[in-house]
Amino acid sequence: GIRDLVRSSGLGDVYKRQGQVRIENSALVMSPRVCVPLPYCVRYGRSSIRSVMTQRPAVLFVCLGNICRSPLAEAAFRKRSAEAGLCVDADSAGTADYHVGSPPDPRSIAEASLHGADISNYAGRQLHMRDFLRFTHILALDHSNLADVQALAPPDATARIGLLMDAVEDGKNAAVADPYHGNQDAFAETWNDVDRAARALVERFMRAVI
Ligand code: 4NP
Repeated sequence: GIRDLVRSSGLGDVYKRQGQVRIENSALVMSPRVCVPLPYCVRYGRSSIRSVMTQRPAVLFVCLGNICRSPLAEAAFRKRSAEAGLCVDADSAGTADYHVGSPPDPRSIAEASLHGADISNYAGRQLHMRDFLRFTHILALDHSNLADVQALAPPDATARIGLLMDAVEDGKNAAVADPYHGNQDAFAETWNDVDRAARALVERFMRAVI
Protein backbone atom coordinates (compact mmCIF):
# COMPACT_ATOMS: atom_id res chain seq x y z
CA GLY A 1 0.00 0.00 0.00
CA ILE A 2 0.92 3.67 0.04
CA ARG A 3 2.39 3.34 3.51
CA ASP A 4 4.85 0.68 2.41
CA LEU A 5 5.62 2.49 -0.81
CA VAL A 6 6.54 5.69 0.96
CA ARG A 7 8.59 3.85 3.56
CA SER A 8 10.42 1.76 1.02
CA SER A 9 11.11 4.71 -1.23
CA GLY A 10 13.65 5.91 1.30
CA LEU A 11 12.91 9.48 0.32
CA GLY A 12 12.04 10.79 3.70
CA ASP A 13 9.95 10.42 6.73
CA VAL A 14 6.34 9.60 6.28
CA TYR A 15 4.17 12.55 7.10
CA LYS A 16 1.62 11.60 9.68
CA ARG A 17 -1.46 13.44 10.78
CA GLN A 18 -4.11 11.96 13.04
CA GLY A 19 -2.47 8.60 12.64
CA GLN A 20 -2.93 8.65 8.88
CA VAL A 21 -0.18 8.55 6.32
CA ARG A 22 -0.77 11.43 3.97
CA ILE A 23 0.84 12.35 0.72
CA GLU A 24 0.26 15.96 -0.06
CA ASN A 25 -0.73 17.06 -3.53
CA SER A 26 -0.62 13.54 -4.91
CA ALA A 27 -3.42 14.61 -7.28
CA LEU A 28 -0.86 16.74 -9.07
CA VAL A 29 0.84 13.67 -10.37
CA MET A 30 -0.79 12.07 -13.35
CA SER A 31 1.96 9.94 -14.70
CA PRO A 32 5.55 9.32 -13.72
CA ARG A 33 6.57 9.88 -17.32
CA VAL A 34 5.48 13.50 -17.52
CA CYS A 35 7.24 16.42 -15.95
CA VAL A 36 5.25 17.51 -12.94
CA PRO A 37 6.24 18.48 -9.43
CA LEU A 38 6.82 15.27 -7.53
CA PRO A 39 5.34 15.05 -4.08
CA TYR A 40 7.44 13.48 -1.44
CA CYS A 41 7.99 13.88 2.19
CA VAL A 42 11.02 15.04 4.09
CA ARG A 43 11.82 15.84 7.62
CA TYR A 44 12.41 19.58 7.62
CA GLY A 45 15.90 20.30 8.90
CA ARG A 46 16.52 19.06 12.39
CA SER A 47 13.16 20.21 13.64
CA SER A 48 10.96 17.70 15.40
CA ILE A 49 8.06 19.09 13.38
CA ARG A 50 7.50 17.08 10.26
CA SER A 51 6.31 18.86 7.21
CA VAL A 52 5.85 18.09 3.58
CA MET A 53 7.79 19.42 0.66
CA THR A 54 6.27 19.26 -2.78
CA GLN A 55 9.01 20.01 -5.22
CA ARG A 56 10.96 18.03 -7.72
CA PRO A 57 14.17 16.34 -6.68
CA ALA A 58 17.12 18.71 -6.65
CA VAL A 59 20.29 16.73 -6.14
CA LEU A 60 23.76 18.11 -5.51
CA PHE A 61 26.67 15.68 -5.93
CA VAL A 62 29.74 16.55 -3.87
CA CYS A 63 33.34 15.33 -4.14
CA LEU A 64 36.64 16.99 -3.29
CA GLY A 65 37.65 18.83 -6.45
CA ASN A 66 34.44 18.84 -8.54
CA ILE A 67 36.46 17.89 -11.61
CA CYS A 68 36.55 14.07 -11.58
CA ARG A 69 33.76 12.20 -9.76
CA SER A 70 30.91 14.59 -9.00
CA PRO A 71 30.62 15.93 -12.59
CA LEU A 72 30.26 12.29 -13.73
CA ALA A 73 27.63 11.66 -11.05
CA GLU A 74 25.74 14.76 -12.16
CA ALA A 75 25.94 13.70 -15.82
CA ALA A 76 24.81 10.13 -15.14
CA PHE A 77 21.90 11.36 -13.01
CA ARG A 78 20.83 13.89 -15.67
CA LYS A 79 21.05 11.19 -18.35
CA ARG A 80 19.10 8.52 -16.44
CA SER A 81 16.47 11.05 -15.32
CA ALA A 82 15.96 12.24 -18.89
CA GLU A 83 15.62 8.65 -20.11
CA ALA A 84 12.98 8.02 -17.46
CA GLY A 85 11.12 11.26 -18.20
CA LEU A 86 11.77 12.42 -14.66
CA CYS A 87 12.16 16.15 -14.10
CA VAL A 88 15.06 16.91 -11.79
CA ASP A 89 17.48 19.62 -10.88
CA ALA A 90 21.07 18.44 -10.68
CA ASP A 91 24.37 20.10 -9.92
CA SER A 92 27.77 19.20 -8.50
CA ALA A 93 30.30 20.90 -6.26
CA GLY A 94 33.60 20.29 -4.51
CA THR A 95 34.37 20.70 -0.84
CA ALA A 96 37.71 22.26 -1.88
CA ASP A 97 38.26 25.39 -3.94
CA TYR A 98 41.22 24.09 -5.99
CA HIS A 99 39.35 23.92 -9.27
CA VAL A 100 36.76 26.69 -9.10
CA GLY A 101 35.85 27.72 -12.65
CA SER A 102 37.76 24.82 -14.23
CA PRO A 103 36.23 22.36 -16.67
CA PRO A 104 36.14 18.70 -15.57
CA ASP A 105 39.29 16.60 -15.85
CA PRO A 106 39.82 15.63 -19.53
CA ARG A 107 39.50 11.97 -18.53
CA SER A 108 36.07 12.64 -17.03
CA ILE A 109 35.04 14.53 -20.17
CA ALA A 110 36.21 11.56 -22.28
CA GLU A 111 34.43 9.02 -20.09
CA ALA A 112 31.16 10.98 -20.12
CA SER A 113 31.42 11.34 -23.87
CA LEU A 114 31.67 7.52 -24.22
CA HIS A 115 28.26 7.39 -22.56
CA GLY A 116 26.69 10.13 -24.64
CA ALA A 117 27.05 12.94 -22.12
CA ASP A 118 28.82 16.22 -22.85
CA ILE A 119 30.22 17.71 -19.66
CA SER A 120 32.89 19.87 -21.31
CA ASN A 121 30.99 23.03 -20.36
CA TYR A 122 30.68 22.17 -16.66
CA ALA A 123 32.60 24.56 -14.42
CA GLY A 124 33.99 23.60 -11.03
CA ARG A 125 32.52 25.27 -8.02
CA GLN A 126 32.81 24.95 -4.27
CA LEU A 127 30.05 23.81 -1.95
CA HIS A 128 28.17 26.82 -0.59
CA MET A 129 26.06 27.23 2.54
CA ARG A 130 22.98 28.12 0.48
CA ASP A 131 23.20 24.67 -1.12
CA PHE A 132 21.86 23.22 2.13
CA LEU A 133 18.59 25.08 1.54
CA ARG A 134 18.42 24.95 -2.26
CA PHE A 135 18.79 21.21 -2.73
CA THR A 136 16.54 18.39 -1.56
CA HIS A 137 19.50 16.00 -1.46
CA ILE A 138 23.25 16.50 -1.07
CA LEU A 139 25.05 13.26 -1.88
CA ALA A 140 28.72 12.78 -1.10
CA LEU A 141 30.96 10.61 -3.24
CA ASP A 142 33.10 9.25 -0.39
CA HIS A 143 33.21 9.21 3.39
CA SER A 144 35.62 12.09 3.65
CA ASN A 145 33.35 14.23 1.45
CA LEU A 146 30.39 13.15 3.60
CA ALA A 147 32.13 14.17 6.83
CA ASP A 148 33.01 17.56 5.31
CA VAL A 149 29.45 18.15 4.10
CA GLN A 150 28.02 17.17 7.49
CA ALA A 151 30.44 19.43 9.31
CA LEU A 152 29.39 22.40 7.16
CA ALA A 153 25.64 21.78 7.41
CA PRO A 154 23.87 24.69 9.11
CA PRO A 155 21.23 23.95 11.77
CA ASP A 156 18.46 24.98 9.38
CA ALA A 157 19.63 22.74 6.53
CA THR A 158 16.67 21.23 4.72
CA ALA A 159 18.62 19.03 2.30
CA ARG A 160 18.96 15.38 3.13
CA ILE A 161 22.65 14.54 3.33
CA GLY A 162 23.93 11.10 2.44
CA LEU A 163 26.51 8.91 0.78
CA LEU A 164 25.81 8.50 -2.94
CA MET A 165 26.34 4.73 -3.09
CA ASP A 166 23.82 4.21 -0.28
CA ALA A 167 21.21 4.64 -3.04
CA VAL A 168 22.33 1.27 -4.39
CA GLU A 169 20.88 -1.78 -2.67
CA ASP A 170 24.14 -3.67 -2.23
CA GLY A 171 26.29 -0.55 -2.14
CA LYS A 172 25.72 0.26 1.50
CA ASN A 173 28.44 2.42 2.94
CA ALA A 174 30.55 2.19 -0.22
CA ALA A 175 32.72 5.02 -1.49
CA VAL A 176 33.33 6.09 -5.07
CA ALA A 177 37.12 5.88 -5.21
CA ASP A 178 39.01 8.97 -6.32
CA PRO A 179 40.30 8.26 -9.86
CA TYR A 180 42.48 11.39 -9.95
CA HIS A 181 45.77 9.46 -9.68
CA GLY A 182 44.56 6.56 -11.81
CA ASN A 183 44.34 5.94 -15.54
CA GLN A 184 41.33 6.04 -17.86
CA ASP A 185 40.23 2.64 -16.49
CA ALA A 186 39.78 4.25 -13.09
CA PHE A 187 37.42 6.77 -14.70
CA ALA A 188 35.50 3.95 -16.36
CA GLU A 189 35.06 2.43 -12.92
CA THR A 190 33.90 5.79 -11.59
CA TRP A 191 31.26 5.99 -14.34
CA ASN A 192 30.10 2.45 -13.50
CA ASP A 193 29.68 3.39 -9.85
CA VAL A 194 27.93 6.71 -10.35
CA ASP A 195 25.71 5.33 -13.10
CA ARG A 196 24.52 2.49 -10.86
CA ALA A 197 23.74 5.06 -8.20
CA ALA A 198 22.02 7.34 -10.73
CA ARG A 199 19.75 4.51 -11.91
CA ALA A 200 18.92 3.60 -8.31
CA LEU A 201 18.15 7.22 -7.45
CA VAL A 202 15.87 7.66 -10.44
CA GLU A 203 14.05 4.46 -9.54
CA ARG A 204 13.56 5.68 -5.99
CA PHE A 205 12.27 9.08 -7.10
CA MET A 206 9.92 7.41 -9.57
CA ARG A 207 8.56 5.09 -6.88
CA ALA A 208 7.61 8.07 -4.75
CA VAL A 209 5.02 8.96 -7.37
CA ILE A 210 1.67 7.51 -6.45
P1 4NP B 1 37.44 14.74 -7.50
O1 4NP B 1 38.98 14.36 -7.74
O2 4NP B 1 37.29 15.05 -6.03
O3 4NP B 1 36.72 13.50 -7.91
O4 4NP B 1 37.13 15.92 -8.38
C1 4NP B 1 40.02 15.21 -7.35
C2 4NP B 1 40.40 16.21 -8.19
C3 4NP B 1 41.44 17.05 -7.83
C4 4NP B 1 42.08 16.84 -6.63
C5 4NP B 1 41.69 15.84 -5.79
C6 4NP B 1 40.65 15.01 -6.15
N1 4NP B 1 43.17 17.68 -6.27
O5 4NP B 1 43.76 17.44 -5.21
O6 4NP B 1 43.48 18.63 -7.01
